[in-house]
Amino acid sequence: MFIDTHAHLTDTAFEGQAQYVIERARQSKVQKIITSGTDIKTSRQALEFALHYDDIYCSIGFYPEYIKDFNEEAEKELFVLGKNSKVVAIGEIGLQYTPDMPEKKLQKEAFIRQMSLAYRLNKPIVIHCREGYGDLIELLKANKKFCSGGTLHCFGGSYETAKEAIDLGYYISVGGVSTFKNASRLREVISKLPLERIVLETDCPYLAPHPFRGQLNMPSFIPTIAENLAELKGVSVGEVEEVTTQNARRLFGI
Ligand code: NI
Repeated sequence: MFIDTHAHLTDTAFEGQAQYVIERARQSKVQKIITSGTDIKTSRQALEFALHYDDIYCSIGFYPEYIKDFNEEAEKELFVLGKNSKVVAIGEIGLQYTPDMPEKKLQKEAFIRQMSLAYRLNKPIVIHCREGYGDLIELLKANKKFCSGGTLHCFGGSYETAKEAIDLGYYISVGGVSTFKNASRLREVISKLPLERIVLETDCPYLAPHPFRGQLNMPSFIPTIAENLAELKGVSVGEVEEVTTQNARRLFGI
């Protein structure tokens, strides 16, 4: 059995297809899926969705792009939603230092507030980071008191960053990008990481793995990502399946 630790099943790309997507996942041995919110509306939807299906869980939180709406009221609502046992993490939360994103200072504040929220709920965090890994590691180090573990979702950083995150108690989440033809640097980083600290994700509907790149991504593509990881680590797909599933179960309590 595999676990897709990060998906967006409530995305409009899947409208009317939820049952089919879940059925296909199960046929591909992907038995558990964590669907993620990115603001208050999608967090509510993610929980509602998770409550409808066995073996679907959710993470809730504000993605960097949407933190302008992360006010006191939203924080209180996240706390209430977060008490539900189907909410297994706070996320995706983090830093994205690309143009047209909110100020760095605001992103950092929202990240720490949500990290502390996760700590109060005793749930891990799912971290999104693009071009801000230096600041991210600094923030994780400076706020160790709020650490309840988590994943660096869709990891795209250096080996040193991955190593520091692992030492701080986090897991590295490997997805479709690791299979892309132009991702040899990322593959080299992943090949050096311990399998005991890796979980799998699709981030669907985005980032379908090679050779399905450009198609609608679905949790049923997890075995393709696992095959690529098995090759990188020089182990069997069965071992990747067993170890990454254990890792996800331990971290998210599922
Ligand atoms: Ni995502």
